[in-house]
Amino acid sequence: MTPKEAQKKAAAEAALAMVPRGCWLGVGTGSTTGYFIQGLKRGWVKGAVPSSVTTEKALRRKGIRVLPLSQARKVTLYVDGADEADGRLRLIKGGGGALTREKILATAAKKFICIADEAKWVKQLGKFPVPVEIVPFARSQVARQLARMGGRPVWRKGFLTDNGGEILDVRGLRIRDPRAMEKKIEEIPGVISAGIFARRRADLLLLGTPRGVRRIKVG
Ligand code: A5P
Repeated sequence: MTPKEAQKKAAAEAALAMVPRGCWLGVGTGSTTGYFIQGLKRGWVKGAVPSSVTTEKALRRKGIRVLPLSQARKVTLYVDGADEADGRLRLIKGGGGALTREKILATAAKKFICIADEAKWVKQLGKFPVPVEIVPFARSQVARQLARMGGRPVWRKGFLTDNGGEILDVRGLRIRDPRAMEKKIEEIPGVISAGIFARRRADLLLLGTPRGVRRIKVG
């Protein structure tokens, strides 16, 4: 296992230790979350709400009870990875294309724990291209608006999200105020969601590092 994978696994294991038994759990998407699912045991949680079809399949393989969000009474805890995280636990997510359901789950959850390797830790968000899920009909119109905001949108060709949306990966945005940027992108007609998680940031970041798992909280 590479050092990076070991960091992801260590962060996932630290999160597993924090899952209250019998809770309703939201589960994210990606390789770090994959380690988390590997460690989940049947019967630990009342039910799990997956953020993607891929995660749903992985949970079912482990024998975990899976429910759609509409049937879960509440989401006590949401655990998910990130593509970037800053010091105030604002994130860029959606490298795997599951950003919309991830944002819905993060918002529904009482607590959001983000798990990541050290490479995801940044001073300022924006080196990783911001994924934006869009209604296919609006693609060129949204792309023009994003370009007016200083971004360079690239269509993730051939990729459809679990919601039937398309993704524009936007480079070059200067994200000085992540909250304002998230809002501005999500106000463009045709945008389903932006992969900036600032209005609903993480409550706790478990960051795998070569020296162990750092626990980072805001205020
Ligand atoms: C999925 O859509 C993303 O938001 C993931 O959470 C993100 O890409 C992190 O993935 P890894 O854990 O594979 O780095």
